[in-house]
Amino acid sequence: MTDATQRREELKAVWEQASRCTRCPQLAAARQTVVFGSGNADADLMFVGEAPGRSEDEQGHPFVGRAGKLLEQLLGEVGLQREDVFINNTLNCRPPDNRDPHPVEIENCQDYLLRKIELVEPRVVCTLGNFATKLLRGDNAGITKVRGQAEIRVIGRRAVRLLPILHPAAALYTPANLEKLREDMAQLPELLGLPLPDQPAAREPPREPTNADDPLRAVPESEAAGGDEPPPRGDDQLGLF
Ligand code: URA
Repeated sequence: MTDATQRREELKAVWEQASRCTRCPQLAAARQTVVFGSGNADADLMFVGEAPGRSEDEQGHPFVGRAGKLLEQLLGEVGLQREDVFINNTLNCRPPDNRDPHPVEIENCQDYLLRKIELVEPRVVCTLGNFATKLLRGDNAGITKVRGQAEIRVIGRRAVRLLPILHPAAALYTPANLEKLREDMAQLPELLGLPLPDQPAAREPPREPTNADDPLRAVPESEAAGGDEPPPRGDDQLGLF
């Protein structure tokens, strides 16, 4: 098995675990789907948004609404397609009424995001808006202050070039923001062509999850929300290329 095939298989296993996650009881009870992320499982470029909205929750894929269409258009302007990149969010589940993610929810979902970064192995991670930017920079600086400033960051076990940009939803009705987003995304081709940053020294492989606090543990059926959620979907429905 090639390294990429193995990482893809592990990504699918993490998705199966995420699809039964009940760490955030309110989100687990209200969701229709777990929006784990989709796209190229071996992408050089990963986008991290905020959280699924209504359309994403219905369809099980991130950025399928108006903000997603704008993101696709801007990707096209720099010569990229959705199939080239992996797109996901700080939260895998939709907050009711599209409220802001709560800090505890971001924390609960963080290990999934770190695993996705570790397994997809992007060279560049582009954070969309405040929530993803603050989380992955580990700093409270707001997006308007740091947007467009690429930097090397170690996220979990992966060193990447991090590029914070505005959330596309902020550009839907504000032409000035659209220009800022376009200007920042124009850096992507060059960033993708830079050498991979030095990677942190390899650590011991993670021990098998054993305790109930680990969000990536396999949750017994009896604990799964509602008990009647559909079984994990196939590769197509995960939306991997
Ligand atoms: N906004 C986000 O942050 N993520 C989505 O998936 C859709 C809209």
